[in-house]
Amino acid sequence: MPKIIISASLLSADFTNLNNEISKVINGGVDRIHIDIMDGHFVDNLAIGIPEIICIRKKYPNLYLDCHLMVTDPKKWIDKLINIGVNSITYHIETIINKEDHLNIINKIKNENISVGIAIKPETNISLNHILLDLIRELNLVLIMTVNPGFGGQKFMIETLSKVELIREKYKDIDIQVDGGLNNYTSKLAIKAGANNIVSGSFIFSSDNIGKSIKTLKCNKN
Ligand code: DX5
Ligand code: ZN
Repeated sequence: MPKIIISASLLSADFTNLNNEISKVINGGVDRIHIDIMDGHFVDNLAIGIPEIICIRKKYPNLYLDCHLMVTDPKKWIDKLINIGVNSITYHIETIINKEDHLNIINKIKNENISVGIAIKPETNISLNHILLDLIRELNLVLIMTVNPGFGGQKFMIETLSKVELIREKYKDIDIQVDGGLNNYTSKLAIKAGANNIVSGSFIFSSDNIGKSIKTLKCNKN
C-alpha cells in the first residue's frame, strides 16, 4: 500500500485567520493542505475560491495543495488551478457523463505533471460504474467520499468503506483518499479498509494538540 498521507481540510479553518491556521497545521506535521472548491450548484455551499488559492500559493510556494472540486462543470476551473500551480486536482465522477470528456480532463491535468483524481459520492455505486473501471488506471488518486460532499463536521458513513476495499483489492498502488468525518477512530477503519490518504478538517482544526492529532491519524495502522 502507498504511504499514509494526512491532509488538513481548510474548510474547518478560521477564515479570519487563514495564514496562522495554515502555519499551525504545517507545524503540526500535516503532509498536505486540502482545498474544497464549491460552486453552490453541485453542493449547497461556497467556500474557498481562486483568489484565495492564488494568495496561499504565493505565501507558501512549496506547500502541497490538494484541490477537491465540488462543482458542476470542472472544465471551467481546471485551467485556473493549473495556472496557479496546485499539486493535485480531483473532480467528481458524477459531473461528467462521457468517457472521452473524462479522458480529456485527465490528460490535460497529467500533461502538467499535476496529480489527477476522481471523487465518488456516497450514493454512487462504483461496482456498476464502467466508466470508473475503464479510467482508473489513468488516475493517480480515487477519492471515496465518506460523507455527502459540501460541509465539514458531518458523521462518517461507514458503509462507504466497502468501496475502499473493492478498489484496494484490485489496485495495490493507487492513492485512495477518504474525506469526511475522519478522526482518530474512523481513520483507523479507513486505513484498515485500504485507504492511505486521509483528509481531515474539524478533527485537526478543533484539536488542542494538532501535532498529536495528526500523529494519531497517521499511525492508525493496526
Ligand atoms: C466535505 C469536504 C471535506 C470536509 C471534511 O464535503 O470535502 O473536505 O472539509 O471535513 P470534516 O473532516 O470535518 O468532515
Ligand atoms: Zn474535500
